[in-house]
Amino acid sequence: MMNVLLIGSGGREHALAWKIVQSPLLAKLYAAPGNPGIAQHAEICDLEISDHDAVIGFCRETTIDLVVVGPEAPLVAGLSDALEAAGIKVFGPTAAAAQLEGSKGFTKDLCARYAIPTAAYQRFNNAPKAKAYIRAQGAPIVIKADGLAAGKGVTVAMTLEEAMEAVDDCFEGAYGEAGAEVVVEEFLTGEEASFFCLCDGKAALPFGTAQDHKRVGDGDTGPNTGGMGAYSPAPVMTPALIERTLKEIIEPTLRGMAEMGAPFSGVLYAGLMIDAGEPKLIEYNVRFGDPECQVLMMRLEDDLLALLVAAAGSGFKSLSTRWSDDAALTVVMAAEGYPGTPRKGTAISGLDRAEATGAKAFHAGTSLHDGTLVANGGRVLNVTARGTTVQAAQETAYRAVDVIDWPEGFCRRDIGWRAVEREGEN
Ligand code: AMP
Ligand code: GLY
Repeated sequence: MMNVLLIGSGGREHALAWKIVQSPLLAKLYAAPGNPGIAQHAEICDLEISDHDAVIGFCRETTIDLVVVGPEAPLVAGLSDALEAAGIKVFGPTAAAAQLEGSKGFTKDLCARYAIPTAAYQRFNNAPKAKAYIRAQGAPIVIKADGLAAGKGVTVAMTLEEAMEAVDDCFEGAYGEAGAEVVVEEFLTGEEASFFCLCDGKAALPFGTAQDHKRVGDGDTGPNTGGMGAYSPAPVMTPALIERTLKEIIEPTLRGMAEMGAPFSGVLYAGLMIDAGEPKLIEYNVRFGDPECQVLMMRLEDDLLALLVAAAGSGFKSLSTRWSDDAALTVVMAAEGYPGTPRKGTAISGLDRAEATGAKAFHAGTSLHDGTLVANGGRVLNVTARGTTVQAAQETAYRAVDVIDWPEGFCRRDIGWRAVEREGEN
């Protein structure tokens, strides 16, 4: 029996908590910073995550057997390294391995060295050279701040003017240190999909596919967000395409990381562009997607905790997992103003009614004020449902959304549209 500490406070971590407590291996779950949804499953502890010594101290006092890190920032900051050095098991890569997300230039160079299919690119540390390259390439073209920029450092520039502006933004400090270096890359066309693998440093265990909806508005319009909804599986990721992605993208990446002395363990989340049946890597993340994790957890039929323990130490015994044949779909409810400045403190009710429809309302940016549930962030709730088709899951999810009483919240009404369209054709 194990004590587990879960790090994070989003809908992703609520879904992980919900699944971890279903494990027969669990003694007790702790979480920091947590949220009111996570608090239904875990004891919330008052811990400053960036204070690695404090986290280590807590783990020793509480005899924590495994730390599960949800978000990328603590990974890039070396929390796993600190825990490992203290002899505490952790699910999540070291800082060196987290460079796959922490530095876009690092990942592009790895792709170049191992012939991993990705957009053609160049790295720059000054504006004049970046601009000369952009002029030579022409638009559309993609400009990326090298480092972590909370999902905001990427500009898909349809014109040269937009591209030049994006370069200036980066070098003038719009993304802080993250923009001190810039990657300029070829514009890819096709259909995007997310592919997840659990990794134990050597092997990759395929862990599901999903499609996210990055734009804030219906019909994929408006500014980019952290993700407004997702569904799983992604029909574009056929078994043959998964096999190719493993061979051409994931396996050479794990080999490269191991050869570099930075073996990767944790979740490797490949953002892919599929064009004419060919997978290309757009980017890596070193953690579960949010909200993609929520739909994966709804479909996973294996013991999540056993898999996380295997990835964190003992290695996988088998390279397959069991999933429900159902589709799962999640609708993100966000606070007015998101992805700009969200309105906070507005009251939310009706979650019991919503869950009576068969859906699950995962909490993201919520908090409790004097017993009332209120919005406390941009993305606030993730209303998640299963169904025999994406359309059925979509209907249940929106039925649940519609009984939640939160006038200051909004959501997209078309989550899953691509898959529903495909289902209509079959
Ligand atoms: P990222 O923040 O790296 O996930 O990028 C945000 C989004 O920008 C991706 O989900 C894609 O929609 C888009 N994007 C990134 N790189 C490219 C590219 N080379 N070609 C076309 N779209 C891209
Ligand atoms: N939903 C996109 C992400 O987690 O990066």
